[in-house]
Amino acid sequence: MTQRRVLRFPEGFLWGTASSSHQCEGGNTNNQWYRWEQQGRILSGEQCGAGANWWQAAEQDFERAEQMENNALRLSLEWSRVEPAEGRWESAAVDRYRAMLADLRRRGMKPLVTLHHFTEPLWFADRGGFAREANIRYFVRYVSYVVTALRDLCDFWLTINEPNVYAMEGYLLGAYPPGEQKLLRAFRVLRNLMQAHVEAFYAIRRIQPQAEIGYCPHYRLFDPANALSPLDCAVAGIHDTYFSWALLQAGESGRFTFPLNMMVAPLRGAAGARDYHGVNYYTRELVRFDPGAPAELFGRRFMQPGVMHNDVGLDNSFGEIYAEGLYRVLKAVYQRTRGNRPLYITENGFNDALDDRRPRAILEHLAAVHRALSDGIPVRGYFHWTLVDNFEWNNGWQARFGLIEIDPRTQERIPRRSASMFGEICRANAITEGIVERYAPEIAETIFGAEATTERGLTV
Ligand code: BGC
Repeated sequence: MTQRRVLRFPEGFLWGTASSSHQCEGGNTNNQWYRWEQQGRILSGEQCGAGANWWQAAEQDFERAEQMENNALRLSLEWSRVEPAEGRWESAAVDRYRAMLADLRRRGMKPLVTLHHFTEPLWFADRGGFAREANIRYFVRYVSYVVTALRDLCDFWLTINEPNVYAMEGYLLGAYPPGEQKLLRAFRVLRNLMQAHVEAFYAIRRIQPQAEIGYCPHYRLFDPANALSPLDCAVAGIHDTYFSWALLQAGESGRFTFPLNMMVAPLRGAAGARDYHGVNYYTRELVRFDPGAPAELFGRRFMQPGVMHNDVGLDNSFGEIYAEGLYRVLKAVYQRTRGNRPLYITENGFNDALDDRRPRAILEHLAAVHRALSDGIPVRGYFHWTLVDNFEWNNGWQARFGLIEIDPRTQERIPRRSASMFGEICRANAITEGIVERYAPEIAETIFGAEATTERGLTV
């Protein structure tokens, strides 16, 4: 009998999907992204509207996740529902979240709850949001309120999603609200978000000592267009450092990388203020030195020609599908933090409306995770972005990340092939040869070739 090949994941590995309130709930009209939409800033001109209708019926999608045998699910709370006006707490909103979390637990899915995923109440945004350090206390007060109200249902928290994307897109590139383009302000916002994370961490720790608490940067790789060109290497290194790694360094040591540390104050109490490292990973870009691009720090970014890639999106932001990058990021996070905490992949996904690349992409990325595990990197879970198509920020409905397709006009769901494949992987807690043969036979050798050719388990 020929031996079947398999990449088995550790027992207790978390399998789930990730999502956010504004993108899924629908009807959020009291946050700064709704105002952005009203100002006509969504590139497709579309409206979030009912989103994926989660405020009314998230449970129906939770059931779909349960059928895929997911044992975890990441979602976020909408601050603007919980505290619609400064100091006014909406207990009905908390009750709705209680129902969602209770439902997840009944279905055997561990909730990972994000406390800030790009949106905030208008009243907070209008006071200057995270550009003003004095506003951090409002965030910490909200966090304390919801953690107290939900602590019997959740003990796994993610304070702030992608502080680097929020700061850069909103304050440097001007592509997200509030649409500013000010370098110094962007770094101040980044710093304040990290300080807010630290303070939220200690607030949660006090309320719920056993909680697992972290945050998740967006790790994007920037490689030199020509690895032999010192200038390309230098500009790629600058992008890499300031977009991805400066944040992690600040989270670990409290100090930002030079010269950011000359522009922003160090963090207070950062060391030790996380129980895991969250990793959001999507893509990499190549960077070529260009003296004519001072606004891009003299580095022209582009996607390597001829590679498998995402549907690029209206803003061209979704590029190469590069699985090796996930391995590189996991390894770099592990090394830069000297293995001090476990890692969770809190987001990884693909914009692929036709679902003709996603099955292969998921398999390749999970094989990269398995390789990291084989190296002894303690990865504890994988949250795929995302369960059902949802409102993709500036791209509106024109970017499709869901395992399950949605028609936003009718709310009809059509599972993509990827959904059944993901279900099979979660059920098996493994990538089996049968799964690869069914969904992407062309990559069987690359998936199993380099590594485990026989049945093998991993414990981390
Ligand atoms: C964000 C998600 C977004 C995803 C795909 C991440 O940067 O956290 O909200 O939908 O990327 O663009």
